[in-house]
Amino acid sequence: MLADGVKEVLFTAEELDARIRELAEEISRDYEDSEILVVGVLKGANVFLSDLIRNIDLPMEVDFIAASSYGNATESSGVVRILKDLDYPLQGRHVLLIEDLIDTGLTLHYLAENLKSRDPASFRICTLLDKPERRKVDIDVDYKGFDIPDEFIVGYGIDYSQKYRNLPYIATLKPEVYA
Ligand code: PRP
Repeated sequence: MLADGVKEVLFTAEELDARIRELAEEISRDYEDSEILVVGVLKGANVFLSDLIRNIDLPMEVDFIAASSYGNATESSGVVRILKDLDYPLQGRHVLLIEDLIDTGLTLHYLAENLKSRDPASFRICTLLDKPERRKVDIDVDYKGFDIPDEFIVGYGIDYSQKYRNLPYIATLKPEVYA
């Protein structure tokens, strides 16, 4: 039974779980036992991060940053405001930034430049989803779950108007929801 307003499931809970285990294995292998600092971008990345880190076999700490980009409901402007900064310095740390979705790339571009200026030992980006058609600025993505089409999607941490974050799957929305 699908949630109200949901059109079609793009990735089931099982498909997400399988891909996340693969990403976690790749990350665990690449860092070769180095301690990492996992940085989640609130709020959307919270569900993905929670599942991903439980499959990563590395010593780690976890921190969060919250950012909001000025713009309308569907398009960010590129002017990003940090609403909650990290609790700890990044200097000398192997930072792995976790995003749920890269759309225009404007939010992540700003965040990546900001965090890289704090002198980490290394900086990599992991996103669950990517909408490459929408990109406005280049982003070097190190780990990616899935490419998706340019459609409104919700679930697994991702909202529409702050709703639907609790769905265990990722789905498209019926047009009447956002029209
Ligand atoms: C989403 C997503 C990214 C950003 C991507 O966050 O989590 O941070 O938009 O868009 P961009 O590539 O066009 O900049 P959102 O602003 O919806 O906040 P949320 O994570 O709190 O839902």
